[in-house]
Amino acid sequence: MGLLDFDAKPDAYGVMGNPIGHSRSPQIHAQFARQTKQRLTYEAILVDLGGLEQAVGNFQGSGGKGLNITVPFKEDAFRLVDELSLRAKRAQAVNTIKINEDGTLLGENTDGVGLVRDLTDNLKFSLQDKRILVLGAGGAVRGVLAPLLMKNPAKLTIANRTVSKAELLAISFGDLGTVTASAFERLAEPFDLIINGTAASLAGELPPLPDGLVTANTLCYDMMYSAKPTPFMLWGSAQGAGEVADGLGMLVEQAAESFKIWRGAEPETAAVIGAIRAELRGS
Ligand code: ATR
Repeated sequence: MGLLDFDAKPDAYGVMGNPIGHSRSPQIHAQFARQTKQRLTYEAILVDLGGLEQAVGNFQGSGGKGLNITVPFKEDAFRLVDELSLRAKRAQAVNTIKINEDGTLLGENTDGVGLVRDLTDNLKFSLQDKRILVLGAGGAVRGVLAPLLMKNPAKLTIANRTVSKAELLAISFGDLGTVTASAFERLAEPFDLIINGTAASLAGELPPLPDGLVTANTLCYDMMYSAKPTPFMLWGSAQGAGEVADGLGMLVEQAAESFKIWRGAEPETAAVIGAIRAELRGS
């Protein structure tokens, strides 16, 4: 490191999406940087639909070091990068890009690790030998299946409105464990963990779930987060779930994994989760 390096421009990071205005990522990464005493910038960047490649090129041209990619560009990013991690390959989506010194782009996916860390570290829920039900079969679900299955659950059932999509996922991930597909109305037995990965919560809706899926030991986890309990969390509570949770912890944990990929440092997530939770309560 040269003597004048303290004057150097801080490394630049950002998140690209559309919309992006409500992203919490700049706040999360600013807190990680403070905690780990790293100098960096992190901005939210609104990208036009179809404009990811140009936006990433511009960011790279101005010296940027890494990006988070969010809705609706994760599949575009998957196609754009030069190299993919194993988990990004499985997810067929990229939520983290590392811009290497030689200018090549490494595509990573930290969503699944984020979910698993929230479940196992924050909520102290062991996945080993558990019966898991995942609701939904879109990109959000595809992104988390491999890390869930790596924890050796007893079985994993994917239920979706369009059953054929759940069946395709069950086939694609069948090499990693016992994975089956179902229609919502055909679900009939209890699960230890139910994860909502449908976009239904966004519209304030709930998939049509039968009774009998939840016991007093079931954790109902919504991958979405919000100030108030989501419709799925309210359903879980009404069904007698032992615990219900939203996806705020997943958001912060996936950010922490991205930060580690870029900076090599592991931030403390609990304080950041607590700070955002307090803000959500106050809003
Ligand atoms: P994402 O990237 O958020 O996963 P997606 O790939 O469009 O978005 O997938 C959305 C998921 O939410 C799908 O599983 C979708 O079900 P279909 O495959 O049948 O379309 C599910 N979904 C969206 N709205 C829903 C609703 N109102 N009830 C139940 N499932 C819904």
